[in-house]
Amino acid sequence: MKMKLEDLLKHIEKLKKVNRKNLKISDDADFVYICHNETVHGLKYNDIPETGDKILVADMSSDFLSEPVDVSKYGLIYAGAQKNVGPAGVVVVIIREDLITDDVIPGTPTMLKYKIHADNDSLYNTPPAYGIYICGKVFNWVKNKGGLQAMKKINEEKASILYDYLDSSSMFKGTVVKKDRSLMNAPFITGRNELDAKFIKEAKAEGFENIKGHRTVGGMRTSIYNAMPIEGVKALVEFMKKFEEENK
Ligand SMILES: Cc1ncc(COP(=O)(O)O)c(C=O)c1O
Repeated sequence: MKMKLEDLLKHIEKLKKVNRKNLKISDDADFVYICHNETVHGLKYNDIPETGDKILVADMSSDFLSEPVDVSKYGLIYAGAQKNVGPAGVVVVIIREDLITDDVIPGTPTMLKYKIHADNDSLYNTPPAYGIYICGKVFNWVKNKGGLQAMKKINEEKASILYDYLDSSSMFKGTVVKKDRSLMNAPFITGRNELDAKFIKEAKAEGFENIKGHRTVGGMRTSIYNAMPIEGVKALVEFMKKFEEENK
């Protein structure tokens, strides 16, 4: 049944009041799913929900390898490689041993059964060898940088350069409250559509690619994944300051 728009809006208002510490989870739920870092709005679970005896499942596609993760808190973590790990076409799955079973919905396609992949050392199908090779290179790069703790420090430093400026600017505003901000994706707006468009155009001409926000939300969005050096963030902030000065 389709939900009416007003019901959907009411539902969204209700969701906004959900307290992560006291989630109401249906008794018959098999698991609780979260998107650990959501790229469209630039949100991140900086503290994960308490789910009691329910299995926690997380999509970490957009922040995998950006910081250490206590994997023991999750039943399943999956991450498409395409952001911090390597080329699209590779997926990392970290799954609790006891969840690798034949107990799947009848009709589940073979390729979607984790047990098939686990039993065959992830070689049931022809693996994307080149993509995996590149992932290996990235894993070594992360290790040489000092590992995930060091990545977290670098990412926090990068993000704070941007967020500190957004918090002090009188033209640009971050769209996410501090506690839910992502280290990987920082959306912002000027509050005026024509000024946003001017900024995006001038930023592109200056070499800042993909600054336009996701089509569903508009505004601007910077993606500062592991591969973005701190110099890139500093250069963007300098450009933003100049734009603010010139467009007062
Ligand atoms: C958290 C998250 N999940 C899923 C996806 C979608 O991945 P795909 O483009 O492979 O469908 C993305 C974007 O790449 C993402 O950031």
